[in-house]
Amino acid sequence: MSSTIAGEVARRRTFAIISHPDAGKSTMTEALALHARVINEAGAIHGKAGRKSTVSDWMEMEKARGISVSSTALQFTYTGSAGDPENPSVINLVDTPGHADFSEDTYRVLTAVDAAVMLIDAAKGLEPQTLKLFQVCRHRGIPVITVINKWDRPGRTPLELLDEISERIGLIPTPLFWPVGIAGDFRGLRDARTGEYVKFTRTAGGAKIAPEDHMSSESAAQQEGDVWAEAVEESDLMAEMGQVHDEEAFLAGQTSPVIFASAILNFGVRQLLEALVELAPPPHERAGIDATEREVTDPFSAVVFKVQAGMDSAHRDRLAFMRIVSGEFERGMVVTHAQTGRPFATKYAMTVVGRDRETVDTAYPGDVVGLVNATALAPGDTLYTDKKVQFPPIPSFAPEHFAVVRADSAGKYKQFRKGIEQLGTEGVVQLLRNDIRGDASPVMAAVGPMQFEVVAARMKTEFNVDVQQDPLPYTIARRTDAASADELNRQRGVEVFERTDGALLALFSDKWRLQYIEKELPDLTLEPLVAAAD
Ligand code: G4P
Repeated sequence: MSSTIAGEVARRRTFAIISHPDAGKSTMTEALALHARVINEAGAIHGKAGRKSTVSDWMEMEKARGISVSSTALQFTYTGSAGDPENPSVINLVDTPGHADFSEDTYRVLTAVDAAVMLIDAAKGLEPQTLKLFQVCRHRGIPVITVINKWDRPGRTPLELLDEISERIGLIPTPLFWPVGIAGDFRGLRDARTGEYVKFTRTAGGAKIAPEDHMSSESAAQQEGDVWAEAVEESDLMAEMGQVHDEEAFLAGQTSPVIFASAILNFGVRQLLEALVELAPPPHERAGIDATEREVTDPFSAVVFKVQAGMDSAHRDRLAFMRIVSGEFERGMVVTHAQTGRPFATKYAMTVVGRDRETVDTAYPGDVVGLVNATALAPGDTLYTDKKVQFPPIPSFAPEHFAVVRADSAGKYKQFRKGIEQLGTEGVVQLLRNDIRGDASPVMAAVGPMQFEVVAARMKTEFNVDVQQDPLPYTIARRTDAASADELNRQRGVEVFERTDGALLALFSDKWRLQYIEKELPDLTLEPLVAAAD
């Protein structure tokens, strides 16, 4: 059995796309699905301009805002040019929420992947959300493949864009494919490793895979003249500077292979898939909290990275998404929930893409499986069989927005409690309480204010409770302890709360208040929490 597992692991690649909203993540997801022949035509599932909604969109609010709040995974098989059709690669593309307010969710998703694709808009270069997400990848040691997208539109020069990457994030770009033609005149790619020209032909509306012509450097020079010469000169310059792909440096997070692409025209998309198969790492071992490693071929273990409910009005249930870390998963197997020691039956195991669900019977390391009605599970939890393992918890981010939440009508108190507790467990917001305020109006703490909107929308649709929210004038949280709490509560502009995970948090109106108290009362415990950008 472990040889089956080793084989399944070897052919798996689990990754996420990190990008700033509008860089083309949905379009690229769709283009990848087209190349893997999951769909026959692009445009069918893309959410823009009268097209049908995107695979990963689910809530009305998401549709209205054109963002995706939920995280789901798309699995497909792909046989690369050097691949064996009998044994294709299995690609798991885990969706990340696009908006900065959901960076805590994104962080959780990134704990479930082995590689990331950093998608950059050729005209805009590095944007704030890309930078932030890249920091998370660096922090977690996730190797990053860079795609410069929208090369079919006027934009910046390739050298300028790559300079920006090395200067602003210290990642050395190593081009795999250099664009032939400036941004806005995208003709094809020069393979930096073979020197070959890959010339693309546009298809109507970019709906189909773009046909490729492969030709030698000499034929390319004849066909493209100066445009080809420029591509050769620039990409050779990169090579002379030593910016060539080095697998070890890439896996160590020092370099990033780069591909220029147009997701909308399907140019460079096959090259990205091939790079994922060829260069991105397969699932690997993971350390437990006692520092023992769980090897991928060890008995089953998985980590829950996302819990959510009510994705579809037809399914008002709760799904916990786990990423398999080791062993083989078989639906129906009874696993142990490390946090409680209780058994957990996995009768209802699903893959979820948008509104569609499919039963999963077996799964392997790297795969994402949704467990239905998993009310006991929270993000960061471990499931295992056989020898116990518990993976480190996923850190909560330092909240910067706080609001009291209460039911609009006192008659709905019971539903209100149930709903708010569930949303708290799912990690939609952090929940805080203290004796002075009592339990009827807990305080929500969030990284971004849109998390509060999600609470209000979901309380209404799933629990039939209208909620009122009153913002609190705090902007900074610090972890404290019981010994410091009384003194802190006596200070103006400070309030101490207990978070659901038991942590004591002191909230401050602003950084000056915090600095003043730190100076006046240096013996108090006031520790920073993990910041969203750490
Ligand atoms: P996101 O998920 O990262 O937010 O981006 P999404 O795919 O929705 O793409 C954002 C916009 O960029 C879309 O246009 C999409 O068609 C366009 N786009 C994506 N990839 C490419 C590409 O390679 N080339 C070009 N030219 N456009 C691309 P939209 O929402 O219809 O807006 P607009 O184009 O009318 O501004």
